[in-house]
Amino acid sequence: MTRSRRPLIAGNWKMNGLRADALALAKAVADGVKRSSWGDREVLICPPAQLIGLVADAVRGSGVLVGGQDCHPAANGAHTGDISAEMLRDAGAGHVIVGHSERRTDCGETDAIVRAKAEAAWRAGLLPIVCIGETLAEREAGRTLAVLESQLKGSMPVGATAARLVVAYEPVWAIGTGKTPTTSEVAAAHAHIRRVLAGLTPDAGLVRLLYGGSVKGSNAAELLAAGDVDGALVGGASLKADEFLAIAKAAQSG
Ligand code: 13P
Repeated sequence: MTRSRRPLIAGNWKMNGLRADALALAKAVADGVKRSSWGDREVLICPPAQLIGLVADAVRGSGVLVGGQDCHPAANGAHTGDISAEMLRDAGAGHVIVGHSERRTDCGETDAIVRAKAEAAWRAGLLPIVCIGETLAEREAGRTLAVLESQLKGSMPVGATAARLVVAYEPVWAIGTGKTPTTSEVAAAHAHIRRVLAGLTPDAGLVRLLYGGSVKGSNAAELLAAGDVDGALVGGASLKADEFLAIAKAAQSG
């Protein structure tokens, strides 16, 4: 990983957290980051939307960043239960995850919808983290790289640059399963993503590519050291401050 791509360790809390636990977790992460000497990397936490304001207040001054997990393409309107990028920003977020496989599956989000969400993030001044990843069936059919290419091409907004967007590779079969690809498989996927990005952005070599899927303290150093891996998108392990901080620490040697 070159120093021109600043490592990003992002925690996706998913649908977990009530106020008291969230506050304790956010403060523990903030304390750990403050005590560390990690000026060379970014640490981001993405709590459920109702906790963004609370978490943003709790981590203020620590350098820890706060993001949302999804946003609607529109700025406002008759979309019951949804939240806009502008609302996330207003609540204290600076980033937003879009196109997570759980939303692609649970909510039928297509590449075109994901692209519209990334554009909404820009409109609101948020940095989108665009997620792509193959299913087990696609992997077993030998279609991993083709699926990544097609998802990336469909989900990337026109005008993407390294400063405006982050890409996360999350193999669906590795999410929450304890299974991970080998480091050479991760490196091959990321190298392919970067090749595809070269046709979509003027500065593909500078776009940060995160790996996500069963990252924990014990495997983070190895995964983060794989070629073209510039950070991690962490689910389960981001709910434990010690584990999450251990992952952030591992980025140092990556
Ligand atoms: P796990 O780290 O729990 O496998 O989840 C990964 C993920 O989906 C992060 O967005």
